[in-house]
Amino acid sequence: MSLSVLSNFRSVFTAPDIAIDLGTANIRLYASGHGLIADEPSMIKVRPDDGTIEAVGSGATQLSPDQTQSELISPMREGVVADVDAASALIKPLLKRARWFGLRRPRVLACAPTDACDEERAALIEATRRAGASAVALAPEPLAAAIGIGMDVSSIYAQMIVDIGDGVTDIAVIRSGSLVATSAVRIACSNLVTAVCQSVAQEHGIEPYHREAERLTWRVGAVRSPQFSSPFAVAGADCQTGLQRRVYVHGHEVVAAMTPVLDTIVSAVRDAVKDLPPEIGCEIIESGLHLTGGGACLPGLAKLLAEETSLDVHAARNPLRAVINGARQMLITGAQTELWAVS
Ligand SMILES: Nc1ncnc2c1ncn2[C@@H]1O[C@H](COP(=O)(O)OP(=O)(O)OP(=O)(O)O)[C@@H](O)[C@H]1O
Ligand SMILES: [Mg+2]
Repeated sequence: MSLSVLSNFRSVFTAPDIAIDLGTANIRLYASGHGLIADEPSMIKVRPDDGTIEAVGSGATQLSPDQTQSELISPMREGVVADVDAASALIKPLLKRARWFGLRRPRVLACAPTDACDEERAALIEATRRAGASAVALAPEPLAAAIGIGMDVSSIYAQMIVDIGDGVTDIAVIRSGSLVATSAVRIACSNLVTAVCQSVAQEHGIEPYHREAERLTWRVGAVRSPQFSSPFAVAGADCQTGLQRRVYVHGHEVVAAMTPVLDTIVSAVRDAVKDLPPEIGCEIIESGLHLTGGGACLPGLAKLLAEETSLDVHAARNPLRAVINGARQMLITGAQTELWAVS
């Protein structure tokens, strides 16, 4: 019998352990023995007449001829599960990708923001169990992100991580394997895109397509005095007629729209640094601030945070997968500890 047949045979009886990063914009799953099995939008496509789920993840966001008939639903709001049914509908088919005959249900390590309240944690556990998990443990997202970027979290010297996702900016200081300070604001990249959409609607009379507004946000970023020679073409639906229209938006308009949101994010990070006890603050000056999540891709944000906090800011090399990469590594220790106690 070949090795792969043997291992498939064994997998009937030993379900893989799964790590999940269920984010506001993206869901990522890792299965032991399989690798990364999903990195897709946190979306489900539902038929409004009878609530039938037609597709999840990437399948939900792909354009199809019946697009107008279906409704896209996001189970997440500001980093936490807002709709347990929709979240379990999203997770279930993705979990199945790692099952062979499925005699055993997998154990799941799911990541949550540090400021998630008991009800929000319970909603994530419930959605994951309903999706087919036999036991669920939760891990703080910034701790997973820190491990995912290769930080030595067992170091006795404090290190700071800021994960700026779609719905939440999660800030943590890690020392000797523990979170010694945390704070979070439920303001992140989605608020930047919304602010740009509102500004374009107000100034140009079109509701930009989400993808277009997102691209504009990524292009302009957090650079305070951008030197753009020409305006950006943006397509969207005319606010009056609903017809498709293209407008030209200047970089400075985008900067003006994004500035209040960026100020909120920067203030949250600055306050978190200011509130640290002096000895931890000194250690952070040495180790700097590590940036993960989609926000780390925004041009100029690392520089802006460095100016505002006087710290060295390091944007992660693979910021979008930092949390899932860390959760994957936590699965290994989880299998040997009491991590699975929550179920
Ligand atoms: N290249 C990029 N440049 C700038 N922003 C980006 C880029 N790629 C993704 N983003 C932004 O990052 C966000 C998604 O990041 P991420 O996947 O870390 O969020 P999430 O984990 O789903 O959300 P959260 O952790 O807040 O619940 C989106 O809002 C997107 O606009
Ligand atoms: Mg995230």
